[in-house]
Amino acid sequence: MKKFYVTTPIYYVNDVPHLGHAYTTIAADVIARYKRLKGYDVFFLTGTDEHGQKIEKSARAKGMSPKELADSVVVNFKRLWERLNISYSHFIRTTDDYHERVVQEIFQRLYDKGDIYLGEYEGWYCTPCESFWSKSQLVEEKYCPDCGRPVERVKEKSYFFRLSAYQDKLLKFYDEHPDFVFPESRMNEIKSFVKMGLEDISISRTTFRWGIPVPFDKEHVIYVWFDALFNYISGVGYGTDNEKFKKYWPADLHIIGKDILRFHAVYWPAFLMAAGFEPPKRVFAHGWWTVEGRKMSKSLRNVVEPNRLIDAYGADAVRYFLLREVPFGLDGDFSHKALAHRINGDLANDLGNLLYRVLTMTIKYLDGVIPEPTKDRDRQLEELSLKMLEEVDRFMDVQAFNRALEAVWEVIRAANRYIDVSAPWKLSKEGRKEELSNVLYNLLETLRLVAVVLYPFMPVKMAEMLEQLGCPSEPKPEDLEWGRIPVGGKVKKGRPLFPKLDEEEIARRVEQEIKEGEEMAQEIGIEDFAKVKIIVAKVLEAEKVPKTDKLVKLVLDTGSGVRTVVAGVGAHYSPGELVGKKVLYLSNLKPKKLRGIESQGMILAASKGDKLYLPEFPEDTPVGAEVR
Ligand code: ME8
Ligand code: MG
Repeated sequence: MKKFYVTTPIYYVNDVPHLGHAYTTIAADVIARYKRLKGYDVFFLTGTDEHGQKIEKSARAKGMSPKELADSVVVNFKRLWERLNISYSHFIRTTDDYHERVVQEIFQRLYDKGDIYLGEYEGWYCTPCESFWSKSQLVEEKYCPDCGRPVERVKEKSYFFRLSAYQDKLLKFYDEHPDFVFPESRMNEIKSFVKMGLEDISISRTTFRWGIPVPFDKEHVIYVWFDALFNYISGVGYGTDNEKFKKYWPADLHIIGKDILRFHAVYWPAFLMAAGFEPPKRVFAHGWWTVEGRKMSKSLRNVVEPNRLIDAYGADAVRYFLLREVPFGLDGDFSHKALAHRINGDLANDLGNLLYRVLTMTIKYLDGVIPEPTKDRDRQLEELSLKMLEEVDRFMDVQAFNRALEAVWEVIRAANRYIDVSAPWKLSKEGRKEELSNVLYNLLETLRLVAVVLYPFMPVKMAEMLEQLGCPSEPKPEDLEWGRIPVGGKVKKGRPLFPKLDEEEIARRVEQEIKEGEEMAQEIGIEDFAKVKIIVAKVLEAEKVPKTDKLVKLVLDTGSGVRTVVAGVGAHYSPGELVGKKVLYLSNLKPKKLRGIESQGMILAASKGDKLYLPEFPEDTPVGAEVR
């Protein structure tokens, strides 16, 4: 049996899973499911990257230990993968003991053979990227060339990996394996990077503790990228189940984002060559998502939080959209409107309607029984379906998901046209039974094949569709042939696979939400706050403003004079309760006339829902005391 080994990056646990993580993992899952469908023995690895300075820092900021932080975030990743129906074989955590042992063993081995040596590192470090940089690489001498954030100066003893010794070997390897990096343009980038010359790289740190110790020098922890990359071998049995490792290594496909290509296409094969392993067969670096036309900032992330997308649109529609909308390898923009448009057009109209029409006619004209075709039936849809199978296969081999899907939709559209042209209602009316049976058979069998090839993309919906077509819900390799629909069996019409959405309404709601998110996220400087003058004042007099429920006129002692304000607290406090109370008074607000009374500022209260809370002060709080 042929094997296929596919991986995702292992994600950092300083952050909860977001759309970008979901994208990579969905892509890997679709490949894994497709290869299984083709009869491969598949191993699919994902997991989390839990060591390093970045995790240590963010754990400290949250008042947790790094391991506690990792444990809590891992739960979020696993739950999301379950909801997205990610069919991973193993979830690796770099804090797993078998992984730590493998990393130490290899570090020791490379040290013994002279590929790792002790030196001193002097340069810069970007903690968010966990990357070392030399001065000449920095932007304006202080920013990370990858992420643009400020770097830190580092000067410490460090173990180095002799990367310089692998420059020629890498270039030779790239020449012999032109398909090593996909897309092609990225392969060229990597080649020119290596041709410019490789320096040895620092692979240990001494200034923090959260990492795997260097086995023979406990002052040092192993650089997080050296640790992380070896997950791809420890996670598939190296050191614990060497038979399994031998069966699956080398990896057939590492799917990653373009942000971490250098680590996977330069460092990783060099580490592997040094340790005596074969490099992986392919690294695919996909593009970057923006959201509603903007960079995926913290506040915008909320708008595309994967769990919310699943709640609103369903896991399968999200899976479909991400792989259909943008050619794999290119950058793309995620918008709710585009997603809703795809659901309505491709899924509800083209596919959903086709299924509905064919099932309805089969039930109406043939009592729902899948008909036996005759030998002289027309082969138009059969030919198109077989061509589709070939094309899907060819495109999936180069991870061109969108083109594979286009090939399927060509057949879906052709089938819709075929109904109009062959007009089964006419055949039924004219009693042309044999032709009618052939037409419906062609359509049912085409739909079955469509559901089978789409199964890796939308496993839940396609299982439902297969059941409606009277087929087993989980397709097998032998189902990828024309003529497998169980003749004589019955179809069953179920609920619509993809209900229609109101695109305009969705676009409006999302726009509103983004606006609110941006307002919330807007930060002010201390100089902005300094413009606001808030002092403690005492209520001298209070009376209801006539003909209103809420408004109360207050006379305040401000410590430097008496002021009148109109306050909207009438529904919660009676005038009697207010007299004598100390309140927070915003004194430099422009005066405003309310019901004919000039309000000279306002008093402040906290509120939630329809409740209102006036602050309380210690007895001796002086009138005129200022809030800073
Ligand atoms: O880099 N668009 O982990 P990480 C598309 N631990 N994909 C995106 C994305 C976006 N806007 N944002 C993130 C690490 N991704 C290391 C990896 S592997 C041995 C160690 C995806 O949590 C994309 O796959 O920062 C990217 O490569 C990955 O998340 C980075 O995840
Ligand atoms: Mg990152």
